Amino acid sequence: MRVLVTGGAGYIGSHTVIELLAKGHEVVVVDNLVNSSEESLKRVEKITGQQIPFVRMDVCDAQALSAVFDDYAFDAVIHFAGLKAVGESVAKPLLYYRTNLDSTLTLCEVMAAHGVHRLIFSSSATVYGTPQELPLKETSPVGVDITNPYGQTKYFIENILRDLSASEPVWQISLLRYFNPIGAHESGLIGEDPQGIPNNLLPFVSQVAVGKRDAVHVFGNDYDTVDGTGVRDYIHVVDLARGHVAALEHMPAVGAAEAYNLGTGQGTSVLELIKAFEAACGKDLPVEIEPRRPGDIASCYADASKAAAKLEWRAAKTVAEACTDSWRWQSQNPNGYTS
Ligand code: NAD
Ligand code: WQD
Repeated sequence: MRVLVTGGAGYIGSHTVIELLAKGHEVVVVDNLVNSSEESLKRVEKITGQQIPFVRMDVCDAQALSAVFDDYAFDAVIHFAGLKAVGESVAKPLLYYRTNLDSTLTLCEVMAAHGVHRLIFSSSATVYGTPQELPLKETSPVGVDITNPYGQTKYFIENILRDLSASEPVWQISLLRYFNPIGAHESGLIGEDPQGIPNNLLPFVSQVAVGKRDAVHVFGNDYDTVDGTGVRDYIHVVDLARGHVAALEHMPAVGAAEAYNLGTGQGTSVLELIKAFEAACGKDLPVEIEPRRPGDIASCYADASKAAAKLEWRAAKTVAEACTDSWRWQSQNPNGYTS
């Protein structure tokens, strides 16, 4: 299929482009590079040996987006573009609502105008808010006590896309609820390149390992979990990328918007993740226990059986492999794409 990938220069998008090309799909990337660099796509070209058509543009710009649809006959769109920093979304809610909602609305309008109705959307386990049951199933309650505007945008967009698919039985929409993506491509050429102080655990741990930060701050060790620290479902980004190819090749019936959990089904605590990273990088890392981070939940992990049954996809890589791959990326590119 010929696929438009919005936000394809970013962390998950760049890994997904590789997996799409590996399965013989054609890819065009649009991205405004607000949280990425074109260098990621140059590295993807190096890995795949293929040229990737790229247009630098804001997905909220309907005219620019229409021009891309005029140039290529797309079969489907994978929509990664958006802002994703939880803390920043609390400080700048309007920016997050504007960017994430407007880009999706604009994209859907332009798709409709060009007769393209297959859409895969980057949703998040954050739509479950405070989990009412574990493991989380696609049928578990959503929207319960979502603690930040970023999470709300994912919840609102899911609802908008459901309404859209119900309004006109031509749409085929997959809502992929990612758990916690970690890791990097095994080449060490692409990976996660956060700007400033990383919000997420694994990039922070890897920056401690490479000597850019002094110690890992563990946010709370008094949760009701295996060792008191938060438990999450960490999924290797290459598995996640392959989940998108599977979703593309198993789109739901016309008129449907289907949600799928993309996780491993396994929970890992903060201390367990740090230990796995220490094994990968071959050194002990300084750890400081801090108070709980506001808005955090104790545990979150997926029931991934729907994706296994309907998409014929399962996460195959371990947390240990993800740490090894992250360490290869971090140690070979200590300053990310600017090194
Ligand atoms: P990322 O920031 O690396 O990638 C997003 C890309 O979108 C970036 O390249 C950015 O420049 C681009 N972008 C942002 N706004 C844009 C706009 N208006 N027009 C064009 N391009 C724009 O983030 P990621 O981790 O690769 O996440 C991809 C998607 O997956 C996001 O929608 C994110 O919310 C979602 N998601 C991420 C995680 C995670 O932990 N990484 C978890 C769940 C869901
Ligand atoms: C994981 C665990 C922290 C940093 C977030 C978003 C979610 C999704 C993925 C996009 C928690 C602990 C963290 C640190 C720590 N993104 N931690 N020290 O919060 O599960 O999910 O990213 O959709 O929406 O909320 O991920 O990596 O921030 O935290 O102890 O320096 O690590 O308390 O238990 P989280 P995370």
